[in-house]
Amino acid sequence: MVKLGVLVSGSGSNLHAIIDNFEGGRLDARIQIIVSNLSGVYALERARKHGIPSLVLLHKGLKREEFDQKLVEVLKAHDVELVVLAGFMRIVTPVLLRAFPMRVMNIHPALLPAFPGTHVWQAEVDYGVKFAGCTVHFVDEGTDTGPIIIQAVVPVYDEDTADTLNARILKQEHKIFSQAIQLYAEGRIKIQGRRVLTPGHPQAADEFMINPAVTEKRSAG
Ligand code: GRF
Repeated sequence: MVKLGVLVSGSGSNLHAIIDNFEGGRLDARIQIIVSNLSGVYALERARKHGIPSLVLLHKGLKREEFDQKLVEVLKAHDVELVVLAGFMRIVTPVLLRAFPMRVMNIHPALLPAFPGTHVWQAEVDYGVKFAGCTVHFVDEGTDTGPIIIQAVVPVYDEDTADTLNARILKQEHKIFSQAIQLYAEGRIKIQGRRVLTPGHPQAADEFMINPAVTEKRSAG
C-alpha cells in the first residue's frame, strides 16, 4: 500500500476519484494527508466527509522555498512516500523535489508537451486542435516538463467551448491519475532518462482516431 500525500487548491474532483478507487479496492494507495494551500476549498470538505486527515498550509507571505519546506515537514511527519498534485495551483521548488525525488506526480489537462501552463482549454479551442487530452507526469524543475507516465486523448468538436472541453478531459483525468498511482504501487514504473516505461503492463491498441471522421465521398452540396 503506497502512502500518499495529496496537495490540492480547489474542488478536488481528482482527489475524489482517488478516494473512490481506494474505497472500492481498486487502488493500492492510502491517503495519509491532504494539504491545501487555500482555506475553504471543496477538496477539504471531501477530506472531512471521508475521514481523511487534512490541513491548510497558507502560502501567503511565505517565499516559495519556505512554503515548500513546511510542506516537506508535514508530508514527512505523515510518512508520505508519493506526493500527488491534484489541482494544486502552486509551482513547486527543488526543496520539495529533493525531498521526494521522482516521487511527485502532477496531472495536467493537456497532451504535454503541447499547452503547458494554465487556461489550456480556451487555448486549445482557439488554436483549433482536433484532439486534446490529459497527462500525468513526474514533476521536475520546469513547468509541466517532467517525464510523462500516462496520457489520455479526447476529440475536440466544432461546438466546444473551454467548459465543455474541460468536462470531457476531466472525465479522463479521473481515470488516468489513479492508474498512474496504481502503476507506481505495483512497482511497474521504470524511468529511463525522460522516458517512463511500464514493462508488463498492457499498452494502447495500435488503433487511431481521426477527427473530423474520414467518410465515404459525398456529392457536393
Ligand atoms: C484539473 O484540470 C487538473 O488537470 C489541473 O487542475 C484541475 C483540478 O481539478 N491540474 P480538481 O480540483 O481535481 O477538480
